[in-house]
This record gives sequence, C-alpha cells and structure tokens, in this order.
Amino acid sequence: VTAPLKVAVTGAAGQIGYSLLFRIASGAIAGDRPVELRLLEIEPALKALEGVVMELDDCAFPNLAGIEIGHEPEKIFDGVNLALLVGARPRGPGMERGDLLSANGAIFTAQGKALNAVAADDVRIGVTGNPANTNALIALKNAPDIPSERFSALTRLDHNRAISQLAAKTGAAVTDIKKVTIWGNHSATQYPDLFHAEIGGKNAAEVVGDQAWVEDYFIPTVAKRGAAIIDARGSSSAASAASATCDAARDWLNGSPAGDWVSMAVVSDGSYGVPEGLVSSFPVTTSGGNWEIVQGLEIDDFSRARIDASTAELAEERDAVTELGLI
Ligand code: NAI
Repeated sequence: VTAPLKVAVTGAAGQIGYSLLFRIASGAIAGDRPVELRLLEIEPALKALEGVVMELDDCAFPNLAGIEIGHEPEKIFDGVNLALLVGARPRGPGMERGDLLSANGAIFTAQGKALNAVAADDVRIGVTGNPANTNALIALKNAPDIPSERFSALTRLDHNRAISQLAAKTGAAVTDIKKVTIWGNHSATQYPDLFHAEIGGKNAAEVVGDQAWVEDYFIPTVAKRGAAIIDARGSSSAASAASATCDAARDWLNGSPAGDWVSMAVVSDGSYGVPEGLVSSFPVTTSGGNWEIVQGLEIDDFSRARIDASTAELAEERDAVTELGLI
C-alpha cells in the first residue's frame, strides 16, 4: 500500500483554493495515489474553510485520505511532501510596492521557517501567491536545510496561456504545440518565447510567419492576460491558476512529457545569463521530482533584451527584500 501524498495548500479558503482543492482531491496531481490535504488559513478564514471541507467531504472522493485544517504553519506543514503556497497578501488601495513586499515577506519568512522545521525530507514547494518569484526566494532563503532546488514559483499559467494563444492563431491542437517557454518574472515583464517552440514538429515562429503579431499581440496578450481577466470577470483568474498549479506539481513529481519541456521559475545557476540565485522562469525538463534547465538554446538579440528586462526586475525585487531584511 502506498502512503498518501501529503499536500499542504495555503490560502485554502481563497478563490484559487476553491478550485484547487477539488482538483487535487480528484487526482490531478497524484493520479490514483491517495492524497491527504493539509490546509492552512489565517484564523478569521477558518470558518469559511470548514465549509469548503464540508463540500470536499460531500464529494466522497475515493482517493482523499484525510483533511486537516489550521492556522499554524508548524502544525499544518508537519510531514508534507508537497506544499503549494497560494495564500498571499493582495495589494490593497494605497499600498506601495514596499508595503506589499513586506506584508508578503512576513508570510513567506514564517512559512519558509516552518517548512524547514517540519516538512518531509522529500518536500517540494510550489509558490503561486504573488509576487510569486520573490515570495519563493524569501521562502527558500528562510529554509536553509531544504535544498533551494525544491522551491519553484508558478509560471505554468503563463505557459498555458501562450499555448492557448498559439493554438487560436494557427488552428493547431494544444497537444501539437511543444517547447513554449516563459522566461523571467511572473509579471508583465515576463517574456513568452515562441522562437524555440514547435507546432506539429515545425518551428512555431515560422508557422506563424508574422513577427508583428508576435511582438504586438502574442507577447503582450500573454503577459497581460491576468489584467484582462480581472477586467472581464471582476476578479482575478482562479480556476486557470488552480489548473496550472496542478499541472506544474504533477509534472514536477511525475516528469515532464518526452519531447517537450515546461516553464518553471527556479533558482538560477547562471544559465542564459540570468544572475545566479534569482528565482526566474526557464525552460525545464523534470524527472523523478527533479528539474533541469534545458541547455543550449540560441538566444537572439530580440529574446536577449526581453529576458534581461524581466530578470532586471527580479533583481530589483531581490534588492528590495534584502533591504527589508527578509532574506
Ligand atoms: P484570495 O484573496 O481569494 O485568497 C487568498 C487566501 O489566502 C485568503 O483566503 C487569505 O485568507 C489567505 N491567506 C492570507 N495570508 C495567509 C497566511 N499567512 N497563511 C495562510 N493563508 C493566508 O486570492 P486568490 O485569488 O486565491 O489568489 C491567491 C494568490 O495567487 C494571490 O497572491 C494571487 O495574486 C496569486 N495568483 C498567482 C497566479 C500565478 O500564475 N502565479 C495566478 C493567479 C493568482
């Protein structure tokens, strides 16, 4: 009998949580392996979370082996194999960037320390809560006993958005589109790169054959999709963020598909000129719970400038949280 995969989710009573928990419980990450959910919320949200747990119970998911909820990270993270850090402090009215970074800094320093103290030896940590890359950096710096390769920030939603835009433009099926890359920060400076992507085995940029579309439509549409969804829906993307969170965790634990790669923000080893130590999105392949940055891609001037702009923003965020004493 396989032991259940213990999965912690923070911000579990939030919008993303309301999609994510049901996907995890129905096998989107672990397949047929049972899962045990460990749900972290702030105290005032625990009552709402109890309601969500009632609904999870009412689904009678065959592979949901148990649910625990609470507001103390040291209790909830105890023995977890996977921690999905979704809960974060959104930017409120009149809040400066520094205020946002310090509010989230407090959350991710505490959660990093708690994971360091009590998570399972094989823990993997995926950060969805924004600013995701820098929150992941704060958490990993506060978890010195956990290898920094175990932390990653979510750019899979951007990756999936890029595939969807390419499919709509070319009429190809999403399954025919491979090797899309998101570089840099999960922010409007991100660089969605289709120059190495393939559609039905052919170079995507050549299939599209429309550089103006790439520059004036594709890149800004993917990079600003979050804002477009807020405009249309009145609240930020939640179900798609939950779906991408599952995709990322599933591929991390079980391996990325052969002949393809995925985008993940991981700690840079200096590959592609991205300053070492920044948590930046790269093309990666995964296997057995480990990732490797795809090497040897040619980066032309167009891509170089965009990767550099996004990683410069990441360096600024790192400098700001260093100044705040968070890392
Ligand atoms: P939400 O505001 O609906 O839910 C967040 C939840 O986190 C709330 O229930 C809140 O009580 C909880 N929370 C706050 N501090 C906490 C703490 N210290 N411990 C545990 N829980 C805590 O927000 P939503 O829509 O679910 O989004 C969550 C985060 O995901 C946001 O930061 C959002 O910007 C980010 N996001 C990231 C995406 C990505 O692609 N990386 C895409 C979409 C959203």
